[in-house]
Amino acid sequence: MSKALDGVRILDFTHVQSGPTCTQLLAWFGADVIKVERAGEGDATRGQLRDIPDVDSLYFTMLNHNKRSITLDAKNPKGKAVLDKLIKNCDVMVENFAPGALDRMGFTWERIQELNPRMVVASVKGFGPGPYVDCKVYENVAQCAGGSASTTGFDDGPPMVTGAQIGDSGTGLHLALGIVAALYQRNTTGRGQKVLAAMQDSVLNLCRVKLRDQQRLERTGVMKEYPQYPDQHFGDAVPRAGNASGGGQPGSILKCKGWETDPNAYIYFITQGAVWPAVCKVIGEPGWITDEAYATPAARLLHLKPIFARIEQWTMTKDKFEVMDILNAYDIPCGPILSMKEIAEEPSLRESGTIVEVDHPTRGKYLTVGNPIKMSDSSTEVTRSPLLGEHTDEVMAFLGYGAEEIHAMRDEKVI
Ligand code: COA
Repeated sequence: MSKALDGVRILDFTHVQSGPTCTQLLAWFGADVIKVERAGEGDATRGQLRDIPDVDSLYFTMLNHNKRSITLDAKNPKGKAVLDKLIKNCDVMVENFAPGALDRMGFTWERIQELNPRMVVASVKGFGPGPYVDCKVYENVAQCAGGSASTTGFDDGPPMVTGAQIGDSGTGLHLALGIVAALYQRNTTGRGQKVLAAMQDSVLNLCRVKLRDQQRLERTGVMKEYPQYPDQHFGDAVPRAGNASGGGQPGSILKCKGWETDPNAYIYFITQGAVWPAVCKVIGEPGWITDEAYATPAARLLHLKPIFARIEQWTMTKDKFEVMDILNAYDIPCGPILSMKEIAEEPSLRESGTIVEVDHPTRGKYLTVGNPIKMSDSSTEVTRSPLLGEHTDEVMAFLGYGAEEIHAMRDEKVI
């Protein structure tokens, strides 16, 4: 079967998480991704959070599947000459260096265009143009600057970051879409272009419902689906809403049987208006169907805390999977809180290729995520991440270097 991005060659100048997520996704769609790493060192994540001494970390392997790796000193004149050739032979360069680093290496937009006017140059940066444009940025900085942290957590606690890497992996996803769109536009213009995904912008894009709420708050002074309503005061900025749903359907995380010892014995329960009578029957409160304090969504907003407390009395009598089975039979939306252990062991996620087992020459077998985007005409086989410089010789040969030249450059530590 062919792949969606067959024939697209990518010069992958990325490191850490945000950029590698993007290029891994493009590799899963069939692009030939050549990861350029610093000779001797490689991507810093190869050595970070190691669980096995001297073996590429899971941090690295899980972000760099289906790629080739070459080593190159991009500051050495001979290394720059290799990069020139790579630029001429690739369709896309993806980079997430600190602001200005690519220019300092001598690879300005103008220089790259001179070498290959069709090249798409895609960058992740922490911030777009503005006061922080020159700052180095990691995940949690982006979560804080993009509006996520101020709106996550409980009202009586500090701002909170989430476990989902919306700053890094989230920005990588945004950048991948920009690259594919730029390649599509190139079909008609014949030109490459610059693509920028700033981490602050990507996080904000994912937090847009909170910008919606900021404006609602400014207009009305109150948001009735927030836990602060009706008893507490709203300030002038969107408050943290705990586990409230954030949409038009009130929801909450409720304890299930075993919560005293199992930190994940909980379920997310949504009291969708259309199934309110079913909710009342299931929890043993049929009188609430017609009771005017509970009968309409507007009336219920005044009583969400006691309503969820009563539902929780019921959920605590069953384990989270029983609750899920019972509620699903009535189309009552709910979701068990799954631990990473449960997710790793879930057979259906293995069958769908969402979680895959990969074999690695020095690490052995490990689990990783597969391509979350499934396509009927472009399937994904996840292959292991490359060892440092594993493909240097073959890529150098493809660029026209002979065996002796390659040998000499290795001696000089250029590659
Ligand atoms: N050959 C020679 N030099 C190389 C090289 C290579 N193959 N690869 C990288 N370098 C150099 C860079 O040119 C840079 O040199 P300079 O400072 O003289 O210009 C140097 O290595 C360090 O690169 P930098 O990107 O500054 O790495 P860092 O470890 O100091 O910072 C980040 C890491 C992630 C904070 C920074 O890259 C950044 O802010 N990136 C953009 C935002 C981002 O993607 N953040 C999320 C990461 S998950």
